[in-house]
Amino acid sequence: MSKGLSTVPAAEGLEGIVAAHTVLSDVDGQAGRLTLRGYAVEDLAHRAGFEDVAHLLLDGFFDALPSGLAPALGAARVRAFAEVAALDENLAKRDPVEAVRALIARLPDGDGLDTALLLIAAPAVFTPAVLRVAAGQQPVAPDPSLSHAADMLRMTRGVPATDGEARALDAYLVTVCDHGLNASTFAARVVASTRAGLTSAVLAGLSALKGPLHGGAPGPVIEMLDAIGAPDNAEAWILKALARGERLMGFGHRIYRVRDPRADALKAAIRQLAQTSTTVPGRLAFAEAVERAALRILRERKPDRALETNVEFYTALLLEALGLPPASFTCVFAMGRTAGWIAHAREQLATGKLVRPQSVYVGPRTKAAA
Ligand code: ACO
Repeated sequence: MSKGLSTVPAAEGLEGIVAAHTVLSDVDGQAGRLTLRGYAVEDLAHRAGFEDVAHLLLDGFFDALPSGLAPALGAARVRAFAEVAALDENLAKRDPVEAVRALIARLPDGDGLDTALLLIAAPAVFTPAVLRVAAGQQPVAPDPSLSHAADMLRMTRGVPATDGEARALDAYLVTVCDHGLNASTFAARVVASTRAGLTSAVLAGLSALKGPLHGGAPGPVIEMLDAIGAPDNAEAWILKALARGERLMGFGHRIYRVRDPRADALKAAIRQLAQTSTTVPGRLAFAEAVERAALRILRERKPDRALETNVEFYTALLLEALGLPPASFTCVFAMGRTAGWIAHAREQLATGKLVRPQSVYVGPRTKAAA
């Protein structure tokens, strides 16, 4: 290492470092805006399906991308289901994200469209199979004629979802499918830059997503809400958690200094679901009371750091309202985000450049061997 480097301060957590140029998504943390290839995420969540937005992300990164992705993605779900034969009860009883990751790890590496579609299909097929086998039930085969969201819910439950439920999951998948250079996307780009293949890049993304500071937060959001139990308990519970040095799951973000726009897109989807549910309106009102208490206390405790509601808070409520178990939430997140990881991996590959930053050695100087 050159001597000069030791005087350069390390950007811990790479905060503020630009590591890629992307045409895929623009995260404007000051304005609280997320734009996917020129479209506001709220508009896409409201008007487009997951297949349309996955197409939007992949467009230009693959030759012969079909104009509508739904049939090809349906066929890819059928191909992915062949892998479910490798799922036994022991694997299914692991943390679902570990079981899904193990099944994805069996898929061959490649850089082409077939591999990409198989990888996008994989979490939607493997997650229901893992949940069902863990519960002693038979996996349900995909129906390629359904939308990705509707088929995932049907494979999970064994019976079709309502249109409203499928639309709500669709809105969720659109909302989370890409988000700049978040930790999992960066991990996927690093691996892609070594030319290891898309399966390796997706596995890296999924492994980063798993952590509770990233995509592993919504399960703990449910634990927090359940532990609080009633609106009147919120303040005391939150104060105790902060006194123990804990973080409130579903709050804070590295980039957003105002409200995470995805939280509002998801809240709109939950409000739609609430119209046909007897339980969702009460749960939503309770969660909003907890959110108000958390934001007030975080503002008092951390006046210099804007800590607002992030996507994971309303993710938890939406996926819970769809009857999905909290242990599966990270896998459902991966269902959407895999499209983003793959587009980023292809974009990184196109640069032809290996990602290889530097470290500054601060350990002991060379010592004579004893
Ligand atoms: N609850 C309480 N305090 C918090 C929270 C929180 N949710 N988030 C940040 N802080 C505090 C930190 O303790 C730290 O305080 P300190 O300066 O006194 O040590 C300060 O705010 C800054 O925290 P950093 O970790 O430096 O902030 P960063 O921007 O790197 O963190 C993160 C972002 C990891 C998301 C953080 O806000 C967090 O841990 N949130 C809870 C987990 C969560 O919701 N994750 C999902 C994020 S969205 C996604 O990844 C899809």
